[in-house]
Amino acid sequence: MKGRTDQTEIVVGLDIGTTKVCAVVGEVDSDGITILGVGNVPCRGLRKGVVSNIELTVRSIRDAVEQAQNMAGVEIRTVYAGVAGSHIRSASSDGVAAVMGREVGRIDVERVLEGARAIPVDADRQILHVLPREYIVDNQDGIRDPIGMSGVRLQVRVNLVTAATSCVQNVIRCAERCGLTVADVVLEPLASAEAVLSEDEKEIGVAVIDVGGGTTDLILYVEGGIAHTSVIPVGGNNITSDVAAGLRTPMGEAERLKRNSGCALGRMVGDDEEIEVPGVGGHPPRKAARRVLSDIIEPRAEEMFALVRKRIEDTGLLEQLSAGAVLTGGAVLLEGMTEFAEEILGMPVRMGSPIGVSGITQLVQGPQFATGVGLVKFGAQALRDARSPIAPTLSHAAVSAAGRAASRSVSAPIEEEARKSKFFDWLRAAF
Ligand SMILES: Nc1ncnc2c1ncn2[C@@H]1O[C@H](COP(=O)(O)OP(=O)(O)OP(=O)(O)O)[C@@H](O)[C@H]1O
Ligand SMILES: [Mg+2]
Repeated sequence: MKGRTDQTEIVVGLDIGTTKVCAVVGEVDSDGITILGVGNVPCRGLRKGVVSNIELTVRSIRDAVEQAQNMAGVEIRTVYAGVAGSHIRSASSDGVAAVMGREVGRIDVERVLEGARAIPVDADRQILHVLPREYIVDNQDGIRDPIGMSGVRLQVRVNLVTAATSCVQNVIRCAERCGLTVADVVLEPLASAEAVLSEDEKEIGVAVIDVGGGTTDLILYVEGGIAHTSVIPVGGNNITSDVAAGLRTPMGEAERLKRNSGCALGRMVGDDEEIEVPGVGGHPPRKAARRVLSDIIEPRAEEMFALVRKRIEDTGLLEQLSAGAVLTGGAVLLEGMTEFAEEILGMPVRMGSPIGVSGITQLVQGPQFATGVGLVKFGAQALRDARSPIAPTLSHAAVSAAGRAASRSVSAPIEEEARKSKFFDWLRAAF
């Protein structure tokens, strides 16, 4: 039973994906997050994670939100929305600040992060997140939370995630057209990781690979911090297209065949297994070996995981992922995906379903709900941070810049601010 002083708040995650819009309603209190309702409807308004048809997207958001509202019995006004697509980039940056008092305070952390943001960003892009990897107080590195530490010089290493402003604005516009306010825009793989990872996995190094319909999103955690994030423009829809072309069957039937009989690893399929392939253009259905289906799927799945492996190798962090990889996204429901990923990535792989929430959890069981639940977790953390008297930017690994920086979309003004600051002049002279 909740105490009278318990504050509860409704947080809604809005995952606008290439194949579906999913609205997840969570009630947040001091005990954690209770899932109250979910709305999940197909969406045809996106291409490869990016809104390409406002009208269709708005329609799906409206339906998903209405479904979730009815189930949860609450009115939805504000959402945390996901953003993805190959316009997302991440880059490293450093910040440095002099500690104002004798020990590092919240204001020092805010200033050092502001400094780390001051890098040139193209005029049509905006900073989405400032993700601290480590803090350095004087010469001591590897610090996760510097608040309260003694020192005179505070440094931070961050990962800056930037996005095309127009893509972010289109997500916000679609939500606003449904009468919703977007509290913040969150990188989708960050949300997925938030939903499925344990703190231990983040600490010992892990990759989260979200294989959705249009994109495969990658995020790497090393020593508890986010070390890399990127989006690869292939996903489960490519597999469906291959099946449709290879078996000369309509897309809808190809999708059904893939889900019901598909397998990513040919050797997991028995020689005598058969499937029925519906004909296209009035041709009658025909029988085919299930092996034929897996022979079509396997090369595409191999290509997807090979691209992921190459991305990881390029970061130089492969050896540091001791916890292996966690797969999320609907496309990993395909039989054999986990086993195949293990083979190609050369590391232990598990499928990730949302963890750490209560309530009607059966509604959000499955890797396809990782982003929606992660967005609720992100929003819940933002609320806790806002209430925390100590360190709003620290208790969460990700400092979202989208909400605050949506209107000041480029770094030029940020740099200007930094340049103008007398404090920075002093800092430059001092170091
Ligand atoms: N049972 C299943 N077996 C195989 N594939 C599946 C299954 N269920 C869903 N998928 C595939 O998962 C993909 C959709 O996954 P998901 O819902 O995570 O994508 P999305 O969030 O809409 O897209 P994205 O994240 O790329 O923008 C589709 O390609 C679909 O065919
Ligand atoms: Mg998705």
